[in-house]
Amino acid sequence: MNPEKTDATLRITGDVLRFRHNPFERENALELLRDHSLVIGKGRLLAIAPAVEARHRWPDCPEQDYSGHWLLPGLIDAHGHYPQLAITASWGAALLPWLEQYTFPEESRFDQGEYARDMAARYQRLCLQNGITTPVVFCTSHPLSVQAWFEQAEARNMRSIAGQVLMDRNAPDTLLREHETALEEVQAQIQQWHGRGRQQVAITPRFAATSSREQLRDAGWLMAHTDCLMQTHLSENPDEIRWMLSLFPECRDYLEIYESHGLLGPRSLFAHGIHLSDSEVARLRASGAAIAHCPSSNLFLGSGLFAARHMADAGIPLALGADVGAGPSLNLFAVMARAYEVSRLQSAPLNAAQLLWLATEGAAQTLKLEAHIGRLQAGLEADIIALNPQATENLALRYHRAESEEEALFALLCLGDDRMVAATWLAGEQQQSQR
Ligand code: GUN
Ligand code: ZN
Repeated sequence: MNPEKTDATLRITGDVLRFRHNPFERENALELLRDHSLVIGKGRLLAIAPAVEARHRWPDCPEQDYSGHWLLPGLIDAHGHYPQLAITASWGAALLPWLEQYTFPEESRFDQGEYARDMAARYQRLCLQNGITTPVVFCTSHPLSVQAWFEQAEARNMRSIAGQVLMDRNAPDTLLREHETALEEVQAQIQQWHGRGRQQVAITPRFAATSSREQLRDAGWLMAHTDCLMQTHLSENPDEIRWMLSLFPECRDYLEIYESHGLLGPRSLFAHGIHLSDSEVARLRASGAAIAHCPSSNLFLGSGLFAARHMADAGIPLALGADVGAGPSLNLFAVMARAYEVSRLQSAPLNAAQLLWLATEGAAQTLKLEAHIGRLQAGLEADIIALNPQATENLALRYHRAESEEEALFALLCLGDDRMVAATWLAGEQQQSQR
């Protein structure tokens, strides 16, 4: 075989784990290509080839040897709040008191640019340490919090989706902005950041309770006049739902509040969606809207058990979210393990392939990013992680006992944390040694 003249600048060699097909549609979805190389150039994957063949075809291209490691697409965290990093693991409260006691006071600090920059940098570093290459986040209602986020994501060349949180009522004054002001600020952010490099702006009303009807209408107008995603919260907690219906007595259910303000459609991403009626599920399905399932957060706040398999069977696009800071950490393996446990409690257990799908390829589809990320395939962006399945004594013990890739993967998801993430590449650039 003749050497190739291409733009290849890096070969990463290891065992490539990828999907043959959607594991929610058919079994036997995973394949492990042992001793393969990912060939990278200009930030993209150029080819996947057996390592021996890649050495012949690209002899001058430097190689990083991760033999014995699993190479996967970078993980996607479809829901989180970077400004809540410092209040993760706050004790004792359900959603509404948790917002009041811990969250709103912390978010109020993000009118300070330096604090916002520090927290954005910490969050992004922790993402990389945990193998998350695409975070989807809420900022706060302060424009500075958005600027801080995007400047640093751009500097890292980290793909991200983020938005200024829209709130104009029912919260401390330090977090409220007049709806016309906020609309202008978000329009300016879309101009500046949306589609610039790897950055995307999401229209981000916090949830219906903290926005006036005018503000929800503004958000619906923005959704209709841009191609931005809209992210918000839906049906997380019974007290929250009662409050919503008292604020919007004209609506028959929680979903109708968003629906009636033009916020329900294929670019809508709702976090949680735990306590939905059959009618709400049917309308979600008809609209093409998606749900970010955040099981560690739901357990932590005692919000309830999301029916993941039921929703997937109903045809609702799903992704996983760590939901920091209600979720206690950015360890997306722990989120997958909690998703398993919650589904197991409902006698409809998700399997390992489905869990990984919801944090990679399935998530990319849900976010309309499947042409860019989520899968190791020539042409896509080279966001890659190397997992060491024997990173700890416990992992190694369990890994050697496994009789199939799927069994090994399930054990790794249940037992793994950031020690398992040996390396992370963003658009083909290895990120600094993570520890
Ligand atoms: N609902 C409205 N705001 C929030 C938030 O910050 N976290 C969670 N988990 N739910 C919310
Ligand atoms: Zn949230």
